[in-house]
Amino acid sequence: MDKVTHTSKCEQGSNGSASEQGRATIVFSPKNQIGGLANVLKVFQEKHINLVHIESRKSRQNNSELEIFVDCDGNRQQLKMLTQLLRKQTDIVEVAVESDPPCDGRLHSVPWFPKKISDLDFCNQVLMYGSELDADHPGFQDGVYRQRRKYFADLASNYKHGDPIPRVEFTAGEVQTWTQVYRELNKLYPTHACREYLKNIPLLVERCHYREDNIPQLEDVSCFLKERTGFSIRPVAGYLSPRDFLAGLAFRVFYCTQYIRHASDPFYTPEPDTCHELLGHVPLLAEPSYAQFSQELGLASLGASDDAVKKLATCYFFTVEFGLCKQDGRLRVYGAGLLSSISELKHALTDKARVLPFDPAVTCSQECIITTFQDVYFASESFKEAKNKMREFAKTIRRPFAIHYDPYTQSVEVLKDVGSIGNMVKDIRHELETVEDALDRLDKCPRL
Ligand SMILES: [Fe+2]
Repeated sequence: MDKVTHTSKCEQGSNGSASEQGRATIVFSPKNQIGGLANVLKVFQEKHINLVHIESRKSRQNNSELEIFVDCDGNRQQLKMLTQLLRKQTDIVEVAVESDPPCDGRLHSVPWFPKKISDLDFCNQVLMYGSELDADHPGFQDGVYRQRRKYFADLASNYKHGDPIPRVEFTAGEVQTWTQVYRELNKLYPTHACREYLKNIPLLVERCHYREDNIPQLEDVSCFLKERTGFSIRPVAGYLSPRDFLAGLAFRVFYCTQYIRHASDPFYTPEPDTCHELLGHVPLLAEPSYAQFSQELGLASLGASDDAVKKLATCYFFTVEFGLCKQDGRLRVYGAGLLSSISELKHALTDKARVLPFDPAVTCSQECIITTFQDVYFASESFKEAKNKMREFAKTIRRPFAIHYDPYTQSVEVLKDVGSIGNMVKDIRHELETVEDALDRLDKCPRL
């Protein structure tokens, strides 16, 4: 197995004392032998490492192997010894980063985060549903549906950055479900959806074959979005952790499900399905100001604490999923959760809905409701205003560094020393020279 190890200050011996507590996130493959995993877990016990979270998944490098993902707490010395022992007993795929202590001398644990777009191959662990459905899912008793969901889960879990998204031949039943949802929602859009949404729909009809009798292919949508805003689509099997989902946004990657909800109730789904993605999210991801707002949310999440990610995810929920905006003196909808739900889309613009101005410091504490209508919705004046408010809010998130996104390499640069900040200043200076040159030329050759 290829070893993709991110450098860890914890492993290299940081300035912090050996007894200071820290957290590590480690992904490893146990040896393929009976009791292999049990032997590895004994190491955690022997080194007095507290396992906070553990998950398993099929290895991305080798389908017949398992990958184990663990979050664990211990002191620096214990964590260092643990990783040394794990290297002997397993193939380590990933070691999370724990930062140097910041200038104030207090330890801030920085969770590992993707630095480049292909690193997203390491952060798409599905939390809910995926190929297995809960007992309360409408398709739980339906063997054919469950088999179909496994097909979609396999497509998503085998996907790697750079692959074309597999085209799907949808069944007649799936198309019929899509048709019912598409037809009913399209009756509401002209009076409920924001103008940016309505503007982009004809483009999607033309370029991505949005029709009531055709389910668009994610690959076509992804190519279209790349041209419009630089966003691309990545298939996913179900709910991701907020941290993983937001990390995708930082790289202008939007995780989309590819399966269709169960046919027993076309107007209800307990989880996102491709109707939600294609009709709720995609039209707005084609809008530059919205795309930038979404990316800002993602960038703020990289390396942030669990508490900060929770707050950002709540802001995401009440904007990208359930957001309203004011247009021409009226409220309009831009949240995908509303734009893909007939009943709540109607409700959100009635007098019964409680609407507050979007303020990240307030919004981040609001309870997110999954099973029924929201208690409150948040309205922005514009995407630009929402972006500026999020940018100010992001400054309040404690992180011992700033992040700069490089669109040429689709990577992020961590700005935490004079060298990295100096490089950014050079880039900005170059951009300003280009602006200056353009203004000079304008002066010399004024347009008639
Ligand atoms: Fe969504």
